[in-house]
Amino acid sequence: MSTDFKSLQIENRVFPPSAEFQAKARISSMDEYKKLHAESINSPDTFWAREASELTWQKRWDKVLDWQPPFAKWFVGAKVNVSENCVDRHLTTHRKEKVAILWEGEPGDTRTLTYAQLHVEVCKFANVLKAQGIKSGDRVLIYMPMVPEAAIAMLACSRIGAVHSVVFGGFSAESIKDRLHDSGAIAIVTADGGWRRGKIVPLKPHVDTALSSGESNVKKVIVLKRTGQEIAMQAGRDTWWHDEVAKVDANCPAEGFDAEHPLYILYTSGSTGKPKGILHTSGGYLVGTYCTSKYVFDLRDDDVYWCTADVGWVTGHSYIVYGPLANGATALMYEGAPDTPHFGRFWEIIQKHKVTILYTAPTAIRAFIKWGDEHPNKYDLSTLRLLGSVGEPINPEAWMWYHTVIGGGRCPIVDTWWQTETGSIMITPLPGVTPTKPGTATLPFFGVDAAILDEDGNEVGPNEGGKLVIRKPWPSMLRTIYGDAERYQQTYWSTYKNIYLAGDSSRRDEDGYFWILGRIDDVLNVSGHRLGTAEVESALVSHPAVAEAAAVGRPDEIKGQAVVVFVTVKAGVQPSDALAAELKKHVGNVIGAIARPDDVRFTAALPKTRSGKIMRRLLKEVVAGGVVKGDTTTLEDFSVVAALQASGKDDE
Ligand code: WTA
Repeated sequence: MSTDFKSLQIENRVFPPSAEFQAKARISSMDEYKKLHAESINSPDTFWAREASELTWQKRWDKVLDWQPPFAKWFVGAKVNVSENCVDRHLTTHRKEKVAILWEGEPGDTRTLTYAQLHVEVCKFANVLKAQGIKSGDRVLIYMPMVPEAAIAMLACSRIGAVHSVVFGGFSAESIKDRLHDSGAIAIVTADGGWRRGKIVPLKPHVDTALSSGESNVKKVIVLKRTGQEIAMQAGRDTWWHDEVAKVDANCPAEGFDAEHPLYILYTSGSTGKPKGILHTSGGYLVGTYCTSKYVFDLRDDDVYWCTADVGWVTGHSYIVYGPLANGATALMYEGAPDTPHFGRFWEIIQKHKVTILYTAPTAIRAFIKWGDEHPNKYDLSTLRLLGSVGEPINPEAWMWYHTVIGGGRCPIVDTWWQTETGSIMITPLPGVTPTKPGTATLPFFGVDAAILDEDGNEVGPNEGGKLVIRKPWPSMLRTIYGDAERYQQTYWSTYKNIYLAGDSSRRDEDGYFWILGRIDDVLNVSGHRLGTAEVESALVSHPAVAEAAAVGRPDEIKGQAVVVFVTVKAGVQPSDALAAELKKHVGNVIGAIARPDDVRFTAALPKTRSGKIMRRLLKEVVAGGVVKGDTTTLEDFSVVAALQASGKDDE
């Protein structure tokens, strides 16, 4: 993102935490942070054992870490139940009657579940899963709207040792099919639909389409009634959530599982067309999400904490469900869109529920800026005390707006860098400690040995760009790519020996703060969501009119990156506006609406190297509108680029 890059470079405003915030914060001085960080790096066993001891273990570990690079085992020998830690643990405390989940549907309906009520729901649904024949280790696909039952289903799986794989409700039938195939899931938990922008988003019909080819292992589909429209139910396979729950009791003891027992698989984009099934396990992930939620959001008992992510993404897993609930927090969940029924919906929710912590994404913030200050200004946002950002670099202008218009100038902003793979926050300010600068995630969290390396593996100097790496294992790290240990090794651990490659480029400023510059692989970041160029390309090529396709990102004011695709058509096919529209729709159908290209450009040929590799870098320069300056010596035929540039100019 070239425009962001420029403004990042000149940023020198510094915002220390207010004395008032600092006085009440869990960690309140830079010295304390430095001391704890040093301990976490030099004596990780001591640091992590102390953190883990705050949680409930059915059997304590024999060893904190067993590291056989690149395979880690944390809390070796321990037995733990993640749902017990997120729910039961609070029932013997004052939190029993505290609200765990505070939910608002898009139509305006609300529900609250106390920890005691959540316990009943989780136990019952765990018994439903058992009654359907689901056992420890079985994979369960969850395809749900943002309703409390999504969290209940996740916790119920973890209670019985089943491995959930949540698929974002905006993804298509094709995406479900791929994930069913890769995970070998035997059951699906879904809903008839969900509400978004005043309309029903159908879910069960997509499940039916995904299952229609008959190739999956799915035996059971459990359907929550949310929207109430007519849907098809297949006898013997499909059952209603409410019917099944009525048949079971609420007694479901939490069995202890090995700390390394798989907790979930979450699919994310990589540089090939096949999404990677990121595998997270129980003990380490629980400790990582618990500890980061506690320190980064500085959670207190009277907080109303709202993370606006969808449970279909890792942020929803770690910071709506597991981290906050392990801390006994009140987590707000909202089903719908931020502009329905009006542009002030988020701010109305904050006022109504007296939200104290808001964790959202730069793409949302940029949309709010565009909609105008008059919307937030209509509401009382004075309950807010802390703001968070995640998903992509936040441009300083958006940071300043968030700080002043939403935070009233008094709320610290935690710009948190992490990934599906890391499981929990890795680089972040601590709100009572770190002087923040707009646009940087600042310093590594405890236990995180982050660095920036050059091609030879040497650490770069201040303000020099390089590859962001993590040099030591951490508890919530991914354990492997499901079913593909070779790809796990290759993707993350082969560039540098025994060092984790994050896939982002970064620089560190003179204060040691990390500035994320973007991805180094063929991954786009559209509205904070990862999208592989190869996924978009294979979706395009699956259309009968398309011969070849290349996808690249273009800086976009709201989405961070917009998807631009270059397409060559098959012989006999005429490029047209109608075909362009059809191709956009096609990609939306194959992957989901977030992947829908913003721009389709037809071309007679794509720029390629002599070995046949598409040079996306050149295409990126073409869409940025500039002259192609980069190295073109490996380009097979420069006239291709010249033609692309000429046709680009015609557009304007
Ligand atoms: C990007 C989302 C800059 C980054 C939790 C990373 C960020 C990818 C930030 C992971 C941030 C996430 N500043 N960039 N605060 N947070 N990213 O797996 O490129 O969906 O590698 O996890 O998002 O995306 P993922």
